[in-house]
Amino acid sequence: MVRMGEFEQLARTYISQMVEMGERLIFLERSRPETDEMKVLMEEVRSCKRCPLHSSRRNSVFGEGSREAEVMFVGEAPGREEDLKGRPFVGAAGELLTKMIGAMGLKRSDVYIANVLKCRPPGNRDPLGSEVEACCDYLFKQIDLIGPKVICGLGSHASMTLLDTTSPISRLRGKVHRIGSAMFVPTYHPAALLRNPRWKRHAWEDLKLVLRLLDSETESVTEE
Ligand code: URA
Ligand code: SF4
Repeated sequence: MVRMGEFEQLARTYISQMVEMGERLIFLERSRPETDEMKVLMEEVRSCKRCPLHSSRRNSVFGEGSREAEVMFVGEAPGREEDLKGRPFVGAAGELLTKMIGAMGLKRSDVYIANVLKCRPPGNRDPLGSEVEACCDYLFKQIDLIGPKVICGLGSHASMTLLDTTSPISRLRGKVHRIGSAMFVPTYHPAALLRNPRWKRHAWEDLKLVLRLLDSETESVTEE
């Protein structure tokens, strides 16, 4: 028969063995090599030759920002400065975008910034349908990995691509759309705002809508 003292001793040994086993499992779990899907995707974009734009680029422009971003800004394609530096929105339009983000009470490092095309179209011409088709999977994967609450589409190209519509930005903006589980707010491209400063007040309305959505639990969505 097991006496009380012996029973207690057996129970203590059993418990400490269980704790040790649990700790070992946690250690094994943590030491498993992590596959960072975003890094893998970035490497894929760096060497991508899926469309002819690879031959004229200096650098591909993957995108940058917080991996935990609740809001993501999506532009059209890299311009001259972006192609030189390999970073999105670092030219004149980028300066205005940085100010717009600041006016929202945020920093660039709080959000994620990317483009539909990762390589610059020569002379900043409009993206071709075939280039968008070849490239847009990268953007959709970025959206999946970040899982933003709200996506702000900058200009008609980004907004029309993401919503798969031919409606112009003037009809799309000012409303909440949906892309997967994210809410989507199209607005004017900062380069368009530099050319047409009168549109800035509409863009500010759109950014305030983004802020309200970030604050809200849910929001009614206007489908096209
Ligand atoms: N315009 C864009 O659409 N994207 C950039 O990164 C820069 C300018
Ligand atoms: Fe690849 Fe996109 Fe660059 Fe074309 S634009 S080469 S699809 S990364």
